[in-house]
Amino acid sequence: MSGGGARRYTGGLVNLDKGRISREIFTGQAIYDDELERIFARSWLFVGHESHVPEPGDYMLGRMGEESVIFNRDRHGRLHVFLNNCRHRGMRVCRYDSGNSRKFACPFHAWVFSDEGELIGVPKLESGYHNELDRSQWGLIEACVASYHGYVFACWDEETPAFEDYLGDLRFYFDDYCELPDGTHGDWEAFGGVFKWKVPCNWKFGAENFGGDYYHNPSHASVDAVVLSPAGTRGRHTYDTVSKTRAVHKLNILTKEGHNARGELFKDDYAYVPTYQEMAVVEDYFRDCYAKRQAKLGEKARWYGHGGTIFPNVSYSNGVQSMGTWHPSGPHETEIWRIFLAPKSAPDEVKNVLRHYVIRYQGPSGLTEQDDMENWSSAHQGARGTIAKRHDFHYGMGMGHERKGWPVSWLGGEIYATEDVSEQNQRAYYGRWARDMDRPPFQRKPLQAAE
Ligand code: FES
Ligand SMILES: [Fe+2]
Repeated sequence: MSGGGARRYTGGLVNLDKGRISREIFTGQAIYDDELERIFARSWLFVGHESHVPEPGDYMLGRMGEESVIFNRDRHGRLHVFLNNCRHRGMRVCRYDSGNSRKFACPFHAWVFSDEGELIGVPKLESGYHNELDRSQWGLIEACVASYHGYVFACWDEETPAFEDYLGDLRFYFDDYCELPDGTHGDWEAFGGVFKWKVPCNWKFGAENFGGDYYHNPSHASVDAVVLSPAGTRGRHTYDTVSKTRAVHKLNILTKEGHNARGELFKDDYAYVPTYQEMAVVEDYFRDCYAKRQAKLGEKARWYGHGGTIFPNVSYSNGVQSMGTWHPSGPHETEIWRIFLAPKSAPDEVKNVLRHYVIRYQGPSGLTEQDDMENWSSAHQGARGTIAKRHDFHYGMGMGHERKGWPVSWLGGEIYATEDVSEQNQRAYYGRWARDMDRPPFQRKPLQAAE
């Protein structure tokens, strides 16, 4: 069956009234093709951080859906996202992961594009094209760009709401993610390159897992038994230590837009817990940040975000400050790209501690990530079997027990929350997915008048 109106997603393949989702949405080729048209071509997608392209002329390659894009800062300092695709025959016009350039020259027949996307050079313009080619019509294809506290997103569809509206009620939580440890909106700095690796599973497994799965601890049991936290204590996170000694609400937050967040709401104004006693500079830094954050945020300092997923394919993690993108590569493969960031003004000792933490925590060799990759690829296999795929997946945990708001009004927006564990976030995510998939497919515009 090809894409088009025949397939019903909301209430059909995604039946949230019953808490059931068809395994087909993870494996069907036609469904996947529809995703590229109906979701990836219309959503705001993460392409990089401003600190990746600090100087005029800097660029790095990104991905939107399956396609390569150039994320750059032009000679005037403006950010752009271009399809990395020559308008002549589609060759990649940029072949390096990152660099600095005022132009992008296609290696096939040497059409040349400026850092503002204009077609500025065409061989044989006179002898071959007889000066009849209107170069102004054949510049690089450009996406809409939004920089949010330095995190840069792009979208192909001008009819998609502006990025802040698209974020909707996630704004409170994503703002919290964008804050530095001291509660201000200063500069983050991406460090190292982009971790890139492939996993044999559908792109949605990671996105839903980061958005709401608080209870897959059995698969991290061995990791929890070793020293992994930045503080050099057993377990994965420093905040685990804090949580154990304080009363907290462990919350799953869903927004009506289908984005979601996880985090802890402390019931009181918890005291700073010393964690880096062996490293005075690092200890001083985090103690100072803690005091500043409490002073700046007041009661709101009780919220401690852990991460979440911005629909469709961007997952962010607080603490280990990272942005991960689940790039679709066919229904059966995901290319994961992840970047890590540190506060730009932090001492080098602090940056080193954070860097070492992320190396052993996340990424292709990170201890937790290896468990997750096994989970998702096995789940994907489990969606493919001839017999297995006749039976839906169960997404019913906590159905009907979502609570609007929680328990303080300043947890922004029209959110729903459940405490501890539930699958409400995954349901909200797939609800949005199904609504987007039920939209009519992209209609190709009539051909331009002859040029
Ligand atoms: S494909 Fe780029 S110049 Fe021909
Ligand atoms: Fe995990």
